[in-house]
Amino acid sequence: MTLAPLLAASPAIQMHAFAALAAFALGAVQLTAPKGTIPHRLFGWLWAGLMLTVVLSSFFIHEIRLWGPWSPIHLLSIFTLVMLPMAVWRARRHDVRRHQRAMVGLFAGALVIAGLFTLLPGRIMHAVLFGP
Ligand code: HEM
Repeated sequence: MTLAPLLAASPAIQMHAFAALAAFALGAVQLTAPKGTIPHRLFGWLWAGLMLTVVLSSFFIHEIRLWGPWSPIHLLSIFTLVMLPMAVWRARRHDVRRHQRAMVGLFAGALVIAGLFTLLPGRIMHAVLFGP
């Protein structure tokens, strides 16, 4: 494992990948820790901020150019940009069941799946884990 390919990438890619890795770690803790507590709320806002950083930075990354400068993964960014405020809004309204469903969906559907796709050969995280 080497961070060199990531540290050689553009600032947008570095910001995106480090925010995503932090969101993955924090999200895993958040999903297993007690809910409704002060730490849950604080770390929840931090997680939402990290996810927003992941999404916004992704709009400045254009490595996979399928439709002009855009890739199918950008659809996931748009989806996350819509779902994230909805998931937070449901917590604010104490709609716990739908808040939980949206957050677990974002964690598993966006972070884990997008994260697994970054491990495909030719992509930067593949080189980080398995070498160039
Ligand atoms: C653990 C999770 C994630 C990691 C480690 C990660 C890492 C990366 C890296 C290193 C790139 C740079 C290009 C490449 O290597 O091909 C990239 C591109 C991208 N990522 Fe992520 N990412 C993660 C999660 C996400 C999530 C949650 C989203 C959207 C909600 C997302 C959307 C994108 C998009 C749109 C691109 C640009 C693709 C292109 O080149 O056109 N990523 N990601």
